[in-house]
Amino acid sequence: MPSSRTSSNPSQSGLEDDRIAILGAGALGRLWAAYLPAGTTGFVPRNASAPSSFKLNYHLEDDNGREHAIVRPWLTGLSGTTLLLATTKAGDTLDALADIIDQLPDTCPIVLFQNGLGSQQAVAERWPWRPILAASTTEAANRPAPDRVVHAARGHTWVGALTDSAAGLTATVIRQLSRSGLEVRGEARILERLWGKLAVNAGINPFTAILDCRNGDILESSLFLDHIDALCEELARLITAEGLPAHSPRELRDDIERVARNTSANTSSMRGDFQGGRATEIDYINGHVARRSRELGLDAPVNQMLTDRVKALAPHQDL
Ligand SMILES: NC(=O)c1ccc[n+]([C@@H]2O[C@H](COP(=O)([O-])OP(=O)(O)OC[C@H]3O[C@@H](n4cnc5c(N)ncnc54)[C@H](OP(=O)(O)O)[C@@H]3O)[C@@H](O)[C@H]2O)c1
Repeated sequence: MPSSRTSSNPSQSGLEDDRIAILGAGALGRLWAAYLPAGTTGFVPRNASAPSSFKLNYHLEDDNGREHAIVRPWLTGLSGTTLLLATTKAGDTLDALADIIDQLPDTCPIVLFQNGLGSQQAVAERWPWRPILAASTTEAANRPAPDRVVHAARGHTWVGALTDSAAGLTATVIRQLSRSGLEVRGEARILERLWGKLAVNAGINPFTAILDCRNGDILESSLFLDHIDALCEELARLITAEGLPAHSPRELRDDIERVARNTSANTSSMRGDFQGGRATEIDYINGHVARRSRELGLDAPVNQMLTDRVKALAPHQDL
């Protein structure tokens, strides 16, 4: 159940000392803020600047279609933060964190929620001494209007350490996130899980954006049918080269087609971003596959072609 209480004082609310800061007040950030107990959670203003108001008001439609009025504070300082959730887009995350990270206690775990790969490694490489974790979530949220968030599908969230100092903190992070009532689990092999999700996104998202269609519609398209086997071969080669457990191209194609069928009526986040005139995360999905393949001496022409075509759809994007 989303938490509609508005207390901003954890000690008065009877809660423990959790102080969860959310960087990125978009669809996913607002979803977590709504489900976490009020009084423990607030948003980090952009550039840590003074926010134009003290509270953020919005409505949440939960996964049962019920409406909740949510009020959460904009945080004016981060010194007591016990957990930071980074729910910015992949391309914004490094800069967004750089703006505020000096205000965070050195011991504060930072959980990265971005889809795809590349941004997580960039953050862990920039601050290797900080406790940095990655989350892979199948919760789905969208924001049809500025003050409205829809919890479109209930799922699971897996959390695992990226840096050494995060290794002993996964249980603490799970305890704090589990107060949301959402399903949160530890994942010792978080990179493997992120790769699994990336592979499915790489086989669905660019096709839906280029063809401007729903997920299920790609399955009959010649663009998909002409390229999916080569795409899966590129993915399978790279996954093995990264030292992760091997997947055959056939397994990957089966996964992609199963998810496309199961979500056939859905609009992918990449198509949604394109339709909304927002930058897509293509550089962290197919673009990451093309870039890492080059770095490891492999070819990934289909992933590169899809990256180029999606970028050509959105000329404002130049990551
Ligand atoms: N939505 C989901 O269901 C879902 C599920 C799984 C994973 N994810 C991943 O979660 C991430 C966020 O997704 P989303 O759908 O929530 O995106 P979103 O709605 O675009 O939210 C991102 C938010 O970050 C804010 N932001 C950007 N730069 C910032 C900065 N420097 N400081 C503070 N805030 C900043 C944006 O503000 P402006 O609006 O002002 O630009 C926006 O509100 C993505 O990487 C996505 O792949 C999302």
